[in-house]
Amino acid sequence: MRTHYCGHINETHAGQQVEVCGWVYHRREHPNAIFIDLRDREGVVQVVFNTERQALHEQANRLRPEYVIRVRGTVVPRPEGSENPKLASGKIEITADQLEIFSAAETPPFQIDDREISEELRLKYRYIDLRRKEMRERLMARSKIIRRIRDFLDREGFLEMETPMLTKATPEGARDYLVPSRTHSGAFFALPQSPQLFKQLLMMSGFDRYYQVVRCFRDEDLRADRQPEFTQLDIETSFMDEDQIMQLNERLIRDLFKTILDVELPDPFPRMTHAEAIRRFGSDKPDLRAPLELVDVADLMQAVEFKVFAGPANDPKGRVVALRAPGGSSLSRKQIDDYTKFVAIYGARGLAYIKVVDKDKGRAGLQSPIEKFLPDEVLTELLARTAADDGDLIFFGADRASVVNEAMGALRARLSADLGLLEGDWKPLWVVDFPMFEWDDKEKRWTSLHHPFTSPKEEHLSLLQDDPARCNSRAYDMVLNGVELGGGSMRIYRQEVQKTVLRHLGISDEEAEQKFGFLLTALQYGCPPHGGIAFGIDRLVMLMTGAHSIRDVMTFPKTQTAACLLTEAPSAVSDAQLKELGIALRKKPEITSG
Ligand code: AMO
Ligand code: AMP
Repeated sequence: MRTHYCGHINETHAGQQVEVCGWVYHRREHPNAIFIDLRDREGVVQVVFNTERQALHEQANRLRPEYVIRVRGTVVPRPEGSENPKLASGKIEITADQLEIFSAAETPPFQIDDREISEELRLKYRYIDLRRKEMRERLMARSKIIRRIRDFLDREGFLEMETPMLTKATPEGARDYLVPSRTHSGAFFALPQSPQLFKQLLMMSGFDRYYQVVRCFRDEDLRADRQPEFTQLDIETSFMDEDQIMQLNERLIRDLFKTILDVELPDPFPRMTHAEAIRRFGSDKPDLRAPLELVDVADLMQAVEFKVFAGPANDPKGRVVALRAPGGSSLSRKQIDDYTKFVAIYGARGLAYIKVVDKDKGRAGLQSPIEKFLPDEVLTELLARTAADDGDLIFFGADRASVVNEAMGALRARLSADLGLLEGDWKPLWVVDFPMFEWDDKEKRWTSLHHPFTSPKEEHLSLLQDDPARCNSRAYDMVLNGVELGGGSMRIYRQEVQKTVLRHLGISDEEAEQKFGFLLTALQYGCPPHGGIAFGIDRLVMLMTGAHSIRDVMTFPKTQTAACLLTEAPSAVSDAQLKELGIALRKKPEITSG
């Protein structure tokens, strides 16, 4: 139907007859002509319908935005002064001699390329939203990134293999999406939270290097970087240790950034232990572009009369930190209040601070609602430890360690950005030496920090029994600019270790048999040492395209309440369908899309 994409035509085609197809983007009237900007996925070209050709001009007069047409014509240089340097095709236009209208279009619910469209409207009319240049380019970049990943892994000898979608629950820490079985009435499949166990089984089958670009499903609280269904680049290898796996995956990410963005990422990526990341940054996915760091001061606060500090300072589960904001003493009351509200989102109950006006004057040179509660020697040591200077401000967080880490970790990143302190464009990092377990205070039991198939460090095997809190795993996360891009680990490949770990997680042998019996059995028939990783492709593409939400790099994403505004899924089903599945509803479905 066409000879060229609209966006590919340029001055090298001058004088040629071409045929193009696309959507009417803009239409402008001129006394002697109608100008149409015709758009396809590659870009825009200007088409001219002169009044001289009366029948054609009249036909063109029917064109409205978003009509789909085909045009035949001749590429001619634009008259001097009417070139558009912003367009690849800006030096030429097409003088039409034939027009075919494939389909008319209603006035769209929003203008293509309008920036102020509500996300609700965009999601409802996603097919129109995706016509916008920004969205088109992001999704085309996504295709290119995935293509490059496949090429890289193919060159490295990886096999692309598929695994089932209708399967059994895999514990990645979220709720499962369940699918009722008709042929086994009352029984359910779970959609995979990840292909974790299948890829391990493929290693036991001997495939050695596996990858898959795969959809995963998790029913969890959604955020800008979390969707109920998302895409992983899932990788598993045999007979490689964690250093080799990390190096391989670094090379993959470096290759992507170099070829797609022409960015050189560091070689090697820096590594940091989980404990150090939490101590310095309050986060296991620190944004290393942000230079500000948390400074522990609990030891100074144990004997002070200010209970807000002394309480957590004397509690083994508590933490008290200071955070220096360079130049922060010029922050207004209102700005400080805003930061106080910001940390409250993470559960902080306040945000004490000290403004350092003139530190040589000692206490008299400080402004603070809490300075009166702190003895001289504590103030002096605080200034020294935080390296605070005149003009700075010191914020404080005191609470349970988990609250302080989240709140002050987030404040550190935000303050660094607000104060214009971010350094560099891309700061990748491996976080390593994760604890095997974390204590779930609500459920009063140990849970896996990664998943239950992650191997403990060889030298920590004995700690499994004696001191699970100190047992570290062979897991690693790749972090980029404060986003957890991927996570992986060496896996357990010995049945008795797997059973011990499951027992520690409060999973009895009987329950283990019922849930993961197939894995435990498989471990008896010859299992290689193996390990791997999974990247969040949506997050990777989000970062690489400069998008702020993974929704902006997905074709048809869901809302924050996990609904699809376009198809209005999830939706009620007929009584007949339910009956066939042997399901009776306890109440009518509540469906609130949006
Ligand atoms: P994990 O649970 O860390 O590991 O997931 C791997 C990566 O997937 C991305 N991700 C998500 N992206 C969008 N929306 C979500 N809801 C979501 N959840 C996770 C993140 C994350 O780093 N089986 C293991 C991997 C392994 O051990 O090999 C796993 O799934 O970028
Ligand atoms: P209050 O005694 O509650 O008036 O608090 C005095 C100062 O301490 C205020 O600036 C509060 O914002 C701050 N504050 C209260 N609780 C905390 C906390 N848990 N961590 C840090 N600062 C706090």
